[in-house]
This record gives sequence, C-alpha cells and structure tokens, in this order.
Amino acid sequence: MTLRHDSGTRIDIAATLDRLQAFPRLQGKRVCLRAPVAEDADAVFALFADPEVMRYWSRPPMTVRAEAEGLIAEILEGFARRTLFNWVVTPRGDDGVIGTCALFRIDARHRRAEIGYSLRADHWGRGLAGEAVALMLDWTFRTLGLHRVEADIDPRNASSQRLLTRLGFASEGHLRERYFVGDEVSDTELFGLLASDWKGAA
Ligand SMILES: CC(C)(COP(=O)(O)OP(=O)(O)OC[C@H]1O[C@@H](n2cnc3c(N)ncnc32)[C@H](O)[C@@H]1OP(=O)(O)O)[C@@H](O)C(=O)NCCC(=O)NCCS
Repeated sequence: MTLRHDSGTRIDIAATLDRLQAFPRLQGKRVCLRAPVAEDADAVFALFADPEVMRYWSRPPMTVRAEAEGLIAEILEGFARRTLFNWVVTPRGDDGVIGTCALFRIDARHRRAEIGYSLRADHWGRGLAGEAVALMLDWTFRTLGLHRVEADIDPRNASSQRLLTRLGFASEGHLRERYFVGDEVSDTELFGLLASDWKGAA
C-alpha cells in the first residue's frame, strides 16, 4: 500500500449529507438527473426488464412491475438515510425516464463511493450516458467532497469501459468470478477515479 499524507482542506462529508434538504437535481446540456417518483415505475420497469440493458448488470432482468416499484421505494429510503443517491435520467425538457445513475456504498471515513449507470438501449451511442455520469461525478467531487469513486464492471462491457476511460477512470485490476447472475459467474474489472483526476463536467 502507498501512503500519502493529505493535509488539504476537506469538505465534511457527513455534515454535507445531513444538510441536504432535498434529493439533488442536476441539469446538463442534454440530460437532467432527478429523484425517482412512484409514477416512474413503468419506465423504470421497461429499462430494467430489457435483456440488452441487463446483459452485464449484477442481477437478472426484472420480470414484474412490482420490482420497479420496490426499487423506487429502496432508492427513496436510501436517500432518507443518505446512503444511496440513485438518480433517474431524463432528457432535458422531457420528464420521462431514460436511464439511471447511482452513487452507493458511500464511505465517508475513507471518502469514497461506487457508481453504476444505465441507459435505455434506443438512446445508446449518443454520449448521453457520459453526460449523465459526468454530472453525477461533478456533484460527488465538488459538492459532497469525495476523494475517490469506483466502478466495477464486466470486462466484456465495452461501451461501459469506454465511457469510464473517457471520463478519466483508470483500470485498476481484474477480479475473477465475482458475481453470480442467473446461471453465470462473471469477472469484474475495477476502475477508479480520484478527485485530483477530475476535470469537471463539460
Ligand atoms: C454503459 C451504457 C450506459 C453506455 O451508454 P452509451 O450511450 O453507449 O454511452 P456513451 O455514448 O455516453 O459512451 C459510450 C462510449 O462507448 C462507445 N461504444 C459504444 N458501444 C461500444 C462497443 N460495442 N464497443 C466499443 N465501444 C463502444 C461509444 O462510441 C462511446 O465512446 P465515445 O464517447 O468515444 O464515442 C449503456 O451501454 C448501458 O446502459 N448499458 C447497460 C447497463 C450497463 O451495462 N451499465 C454499466 C454497468 S454499471
């Protein structure tokens, strides 16, 4: 392990979390990130029931709408406890859900968290996911004051790999047979991004 003394001024993460009055709303050029509401259940279900979207996800596709309702309840509960920020992504100027961005396993002591993200397949390849994740990272580093963000993805997930690399993440290691999903066990590639690497959302 490398030890590095860090004496910089730090944001008080616990106090910042406590002070948050409402789920943060983040707005970019083409997408917005907002809290989910119960009415999003159909769109969330459509997203996570799509086998293409779920190909490299850590759980199998949803099969019933109640799973989406449960997920929304879990997200709102996670925000109430300040342990999870799971935004839904909408196109700017349209409130319909086309994706998600999640910040989870927030560890205030070690100033790190993990991220995940998804986008409806009919929106892939236009840079919308990259823009959404950049908004989340900007908030994570600048407002929350985290030092490090991690993403662990399936090494076969080329578009996710590309998205992370483009945002400045470094590939930090290959972990073998880490997730059991359905009848498959898959490896993980761990990516990391430090606050000092972050150049800001475009
Ligand atoms: C991962 C995901 C969000 C990326 O969405 P996207 O719309 O392709 O994202 P972006 O357009 O912002 O960026 C993806 C990059 O990968 C590239 N890419 C897309 N498909 C690719 C492929 N099959 N092989 C290599 N690169 C690919 C794109 O060209 C783009 O690169 P660029 O910025 O240099 O042009 C989307 O594929 C998705 O929702 N997948 C399912 C959920 C998932 O696996 N999430 C990640 C695990 S947490």
